[in-house]
Amino acid sequence: MKFSGVLPVLALAGAAAAKPGKYPTTTIAGVEVVDTPLVREARQLIEVFNELQPYLYKHLHRTWLFGAAAINANETLKATIDLEFHAVGSLLHDLGWDMRPNSPYVTQEDRFEVDSGVAAVNFVKDQIKNDKCSSKKWSASRLEKLYDGIALQTEQSIIKYKNVEAQWIVNSVGFEFPGPRNPLIPEAAYNSVLAAYPNDYLFRGSNITFTYLAGAKPVGTYNTFLQDFGEAYVPGYDPSGYTFFDLIHEGIEQEVAKNPNATIYS
Ligand SMILES: *[C@@H]1O[C@H](CO)[C@@H](O)[C@H](O)[C@H]1NC(C)=O
Ligand SMILES: *[C@@H]1O[C@H](CO)[C@@H](O)[C@H](O)[C@H]1NC(C)=O
Ligand SMILES: *[C@@H]1O[C@H](CO)[C@@H](O)[C@H](O)[C@H]1NC(C)=O
Repeated sequence: MKFSGVLPVLALAGAAAAKPGKYPTTTIAGVEVVDTPLVREARQLIEVFNELQPYLYKHLHRTWLFGAAAINANETLKATIDLEFHAVGSLLHDLGWDMRPNSPYVTQEDRFEVDSGVAAVNFVKDQIKNDKCSSKKWSASRLEKLYDGIALQTEQSIIKYKNVEAQWIVNSVGFEFPGPRNPLIPEAAYNSVLAAYPNDYLFRGSNITFTYLAGAKPVGTYNTFLQDFGEAYVPGYDPSGYTFFDLIHEGIEQEVAKNPNATIYS
């Protein structure tokens, strides 16, 4: 029979693909990761930073791979969390760090976490148009979850009661800042990821990026932790009139003028 050598292979491939919830995978730096057209496109999108901001490029990879290694190490998590969602969210979570003057991601008015969340959502929408993923899977609520996980990446105290998948984007970012290996990441994977994507400049790189953003888009940094970088390092940086402290105190003056006799029990 002419096809006898081919058929079993096809049957096997079909069986693997038919398993619900399973994605094709590959191994990067010793970690098994999802290898779908969407994830490939996300990886391609951040290639540009390998040259421009290598600490960012490596940070995005470590975030993805540390997170994937931690999820892989726990059968419950592995069965619960959509690893394609996690890949896209972690790989794209800092597009708002882009220091190109003509960045397609960085706005004047929004903080970098919001820029990154919007950019990731727009990326997935583009990939739906390009048939790299389906709108059925990437529904509006799923895109909203992606936005939440990225936009709340520096607000651990807010994300913590959110959806577990959005939370895992934030957890994965947390594996990078600060310090030693989180015990959820198996040691062998931690070491192989660090060997492939060394972390020797992230804090200095962050300092440079945050200072740049405070200078390039001050309004998008007021009332965020980047304000400290602006105040420390950017000549002329002046958040006064924009901070919540200032807004509350301006309000107090008007309130006293209007209701001078009110008390805390009024
Ligand atoms: C796996 O993760 C779940 C959910 O976070 C947790 O409840 C469980 O204790 C973990 N299992 C192990 C073996 O670490
Ligand atoms: C942080 O960045 C600012 C601005 O580039 C620079 O002046 C400062 O020396 C940096 N701080 C450290 C500790 O590297
Ligand atoms: C506030 O109290 C003072 C003194 O009791 C009174 O003269 C004044 O009319 C009050 N003002 C208002 C706006 O109620």
